[in-house]
Amino acid sequence: MKIATSKMKRNIQKAIQQTKPALHLKEANEILSISAGTAEVSGLSQAKMNELLHFKDDVIGMVHSLGENTTGVVFLTNADMLKAGDKAIPTGHILEVPVGEELLGRIINPLGQPLDEKLPLRTKEKWPIERPAATIMDRAPVDTPLQTGIKAIDSFTPIGRGQRELILGDRQTGKTAIAVDTILNQKNTGVICVYCAIGQRSADTARVIDQLKKHDMINQSVVVVATGEDEAGLQFIAPYSATSIAEWFMEKGQDVLIVYDDLTAHARAYRQMSLLLRTPPGREAYPGDIFYIHSRLLERSTHLCEKLGGGSLTSLPIVSTEAGNISAYIPTNVISITDGQIYLSTQLFQKGMMPAIDTGRSVSRVGGEAQLPAYRQLLGPLKLFYSQFEELESFSKFGVQLDEETQQKLNRGRAIRMVLQQTQFKPIDVTTQIAIFMAANNGLFDTMSDEQIVKAQETIRKTMNQRFKNIIERITIKREKIDDATQQKLLTAFRQDLKIRGV
Ligand SMILES: Nc1ncnc2c1ncn2[C@@H]1O[C@H](COP(=O)(O)OP(=O)(O)OP(=O)(O)O)[C@@H](O)[C@H]1O
Ligand SMILES: [Mg+2]
Repeated sequence: MKIATSKMKRNIQKAIQQTKPALHLKEANEILSISAGTAEVSGLSQAKMNELLHFKDDVIGMVHSLGENTTGVVFLTNADMLKAGDKAIPTGHILEVPVGEELLGRIINPLGQPLDEKLPLRTKEKWPIERPAATIMDRAPVDTPLQTGIKAIDSFTPIGRGQRELILGDRQTGKTAIAVDTILNQKNTGVICVYCAIGQRSADTARVIDQLKKHDMINQSVVVVATGEDEAGLQFIAPYSATSIAEWFMEKGQDVLIVYDDLTAHARAYRQMSLLLRTPPGREAYPGDIFYIHSRLLERSTHLCEKLGGGSLTSLPIVSTEAGNISAYIPTNVISITDGQIYLSTQLFQKGMMPAIDTGRSVSRVGGEAQLPAYRQLLGPLKLFYSQFEELESFSKFGVQLDEETQQKLNRGRAIRMVLQQTQFKPIDVTTQIAIFMAANNGLFDTMSDEQIVKAQETIRKTMNQRFKNIIERITIKREKIDDATQQKLLTAFRQDLKIRGV
């Protein structure tokens, strides 16, 4: 066959002219390296901070740092099966969590997935886990007390609704116990409680949940859990996610209490993921923005103004110290962010004085303003007396001869110290607390033994609730102070009843 070369040449030239080569760029979005719950991913040039990413086998990740050519990702679910070269699929969405009444009584993880054996969650709304805190003009002063039911706290370091009060102390000093007792005391107050467990042992969290169930508080609470075995990324987002859930209730005008148990574990999870993603380490190897991650969290606690419904979010962050060192990095940071701290001492705990609150090192910077006037009136002189007593007691240990007046002061001080003790799961209502401190202040317990003081407090509780309902109302609802005549009337009644009951 003869080929017309000239025709062939023309055809080839025509085909070349018609071809329009275009460059189609496609990002690889591939995992470059992966280690312990974090990964570096190539591509993702359009990625946003905190954007959600999907990987194979339903693994979820979140953008944590944006580099020039790579993106740092933290995994929120187990990523053991992923390897370098696997694809990342951007979603364009920031991480959101389900919010709403449906969450009451539920135990969920920070992604909003149920951990209890109940039905899947069907909420109408989802809110981003990171939300801006209320502005100054949106806030109202803290003016209502949040009763913890713990005498040593409601008296010396009272907490107001919308306040942030830190609970700190060494391991096993009763930090979680205080938070749980405070939740249990909200039973008939309508305050919604959110308990957020971060990096805790599963057994400890299960115990807390059990207590909430046993004391019938679970249906007024939401429990958000990221245990120590969960991915660092999941532990990191837990408090933000729990706060969004709490804010939903607050913005509906309700009072909410949130417990972060604990922020030391939170900081550790953040340090782990930041170091793996090569953020430069600072003091104690924490990244430089560790202060900011806690301040932006705790700034979200507030008391909203009337215009915005008047709801409040009170937070009780927990921080654990080592060997009582409160000047370590995380404790000092969180102390400076919060409105006061409740310091638990190992020495007091070992002596069996529980709750092991060191009254000298504990403070509440705003709660006093919110305390009931009758309580405040009583406590001014009592606090002064108690701190003088502690000094006096340390002197008296030298075996000096004591005059009668000093001995009496010591007896009263010891009685007050006994009154400050309280067993777990036995919250005491505020009027009973006021009555007990009034009795202690007036020497009713001076000559009693420890067991008698415990019994006497129960008698006083009964006397108040059975005979003085009108005074309870005046103290709590009308927020009145107690005048001298009323005080004498109450003291006489207490003396009579104590005698009748043989205390
Ligand atoms: N007021 C109290 N009366 C009696 N026992 C208490 C009291 N407070 C705490 N305890 C007991 O002390 C132990 C430690 O309490 P808890 O778990 O609250 O401490 P923690 O500081 O949260 O510990 P961790 O640092 O491990 O989280 C528990 O067994 C608890 O029952
Ligand atoms: Mg604890």
